[in-house]
Amino acid sequence: MLEDTLTLLEHRLTAENAGIKLERSFPKSEAWVLADGDKLKQVFWNFCENAVRAIKTQATTKGGTLTVALAERGLDWEMSFADTGPGINPQQTEKIFEPFQSNFEGGTGLGLAIVYQIVQAHEGKVWARSAVGKGTSFVVRLRRMVYAQDAAGGTSASSSASASAGTALAAAGGTRG
Ligand SMILES: Nc1ncnc2c1ncn2[C@@H]1O[C@H](COP(=O)(O)OP(=O)(O)OP(=O)(O)O)[C@@H](O)[C@H]1O
Ligand SMILES: [Mg+2]
Repeated sequence: MLEDTLTLLEHRLTAENAGIKLERSFPKSEAWVLADGDKLKQVFWNFCENAVRAIKTQATTKGGTLTVALAERGLDWEMSFADTGPGINPQQTEKIFEPFQSNFEGGTGLGLAIVYQIVQAHEGKVWARSAVGKGTSFVVRLRRMVYAQDAAGGTSASSSASASAGTALAAAGGTRG
């Protein structure tokens, strides 16, 4: 899912030729969580889209970098999206997941509110770290899926009757790019 999103983003960045680089830091080639794959893609895409917009708003249109990292943290997978955009001041950072808080031109301010709801629905955590002038990172943590059961059927998109989150997710793509 993460890799799908990043590949899509790469195509877009290449097409736009805006001088924005995408870097990956994945220690493992696969990371599994129990989640709704489409919803997770929405989360990843929102972070990527915001990062690209943030980088583009900078006065010095010199481009920038979005670094996407995946790491194991205790029982969770932690995914972070760090950009070299203008950053967000602490007051705004506090309210960033509330709806209709937008400083992007034409932005509705709903993206991160939706992100927050999706992550909550997966019993995960999400937060933002930012320093004005340096950039912003969004971090999301989701419980790792342990290989107790057979993972072979895990990529099936059919949702199980018992759980609302029925899709297993493969998050990373090894050392590509
Ligand atoms: N990576 C970032 N760097 C700087 N500011 C950010 C970043 N991500 C979000 N923001 C700020 O947080 C606000 C809220 O983001 P959010 O995704 O919720 O809404 P939006 O992008 O403005 O609109 P929408 O996502 O609904 O199109 C943005 O308008 C922007 O001011
Ligand atoms: Mg957005």
